[in-house]
Amino acid sequence: MSEEIITKKRVFSAIQPSGMLTLGNYLGALKNWKAMTEEFECIYAVADLHAITVRQEPSAFRKQLYNTCAVLLAIGLDPKDVTLFVQSHVAEHSQLSWLLSCYTQFGELSRMTQFKDKSAKHADNVNLGLFGYPTLMAADILLYQPDFVPVGADQKQHLELTRDVATRFNHIYGDVFKIPEPYIPKVGARVMSLQEPTAKMSKSDANVNAWVAILDKPEDIMRKFKKAVTDSENKICVGEGRDGINNLIGIYSAITGKTADEVAAEFENKGYGDFKTAVGEAVVEELRPVRESFDTFIADKKQLEDIYHEGAEKAEYYARRTVSKVMKKIGFVR
Ligand code: TYM
Repeated sequence: MSEEIITKKRVFSAIQPSGMLTLGNYLGALKNWKAMTEEFECIYAVADLHAITVRQEPSAFRKQLYNTCAVLLAIGLDPKDVTLFVQSHVAEHSQLSWLLSCYTQFGELSRMTQFKDKSAKHADNVNLGLFGYPTLMAADILLYQPDFVPVGADQKQHLELTRDVATRFNHIYGDVFKIPEPYIPKVGARVMSLQEPTAKMSKSDANVNAWVAILDKPEDIMRKFKKAVTDSENKICVGEGRDGINNLIGIYSAITGKTADEVAAEFENKGYGDFKTAVGEAVVEELRPVRESFDTFIADKKQLEDIYHEGAEKAEYYARRTVSKVMKKIGFVR
C-alpha cells in the first residue's frame, strides 16, 4: 500500500440495490461519493443485506444488484481508485452487526423514524431485521474505521446512532472505533417528491411522475419536471411553505452550483414554465453521461463480477482486522 493511501482520510458509504436509483440518491449521496474520491480513500458497498428487510423477488433482486453496480461505475467511480464491493460478500458485516446489537438499546432502535415509517408501510412484515437495520448499518460503517460517511439527510439519525454505539463501546473497552462524521451536502440532501413535495423522493412511490430515475430517458425527465407540483404564486424564489418551488430550486442549485439567490436572480422575470424546463434540462444533461455509460457497463457482467470480487477482497482486509480487535476486547478466545 502506498504512503499516499495510508495518509489519506477514509470514507465509507453504501446504497441499497432495491429498485431503480433516483435523482435523490444521486444528489444526496452519489455525487459526493464521486467528488470525494479526489481527496479521500473511498470504500463503497452495495447494501444487499439491508434490502431484504422488505421482501424482494429473487430474480429482480439479482438484476438490481448488477444494475446498481453498473450505475456506480457509470457515475465515474473507478475501481482502480475506489473499493467497490457487495455487502453480503464480506461476512464480517453480519458478524459485527450481531456483536453491536448487544450494545444497542431497544429504546434507541424504537426511536428511529425510518423504522416507524417502514413498519407502517409494510405492516404485514415488521421483522427483526427491519428493527435491527441501523445496527447493521453501524457495523457496515465501523468495520472500516472511516472519517466521513457521505449520505443524504434521511440517514442522519442512523449516523447518530452509529456514533452513539461506537462511543459506548469505546467507553467500555478503550479506543476501538473511530467516531465517523456524517457528510451531508448543503443542497440536494433531501430531494422531495415532484408530486407531493412534503414527502421524500422515493423509488417506492407508486406515482412514477413523483420521482426521477438516474436512468430515465430525457423525454421522461422533461415530462416529470413539467408536471412537477408548484403553487400559484409564479415567483421563483425560496419561501416558507413553498415546498414544490423550494425543491426545484434545490435540485437546480445542486446541479449548477448556483445559490438560491442566484437562481432567483436568473429567473426574476420568468414564469414556472420556463423554470421547470430549465431544471429538467439541467437534470437531463447531468445524467446523460451516466445513462450512456451505464449501457456499456451492464453489458459486461463478467467485468462487474471481477470488480466487486476484487473489492470484497480489499474490504475484507479492513473488516477482519476490526472484528478481530472487537472480539478480543469483548473477551472471546481465539
Ligand atoms: P438508500 O439506499 O435508501 O439511499 C442511498 C443514499 O441516497 C440518499 N437518498 C437521498 N438523498 C437525498 N434525497 C433523497 N430523496 C434521497 N433518497 C435517498 C440516502 O440518504 C443514502 O445516502 N441505509 C442506507 C444504506 C446503507 C448505508 C450504510 C449508508 C447501508 N449501510 C452505511 C451509509 C453507511 C439506505 O437505505 O440508503
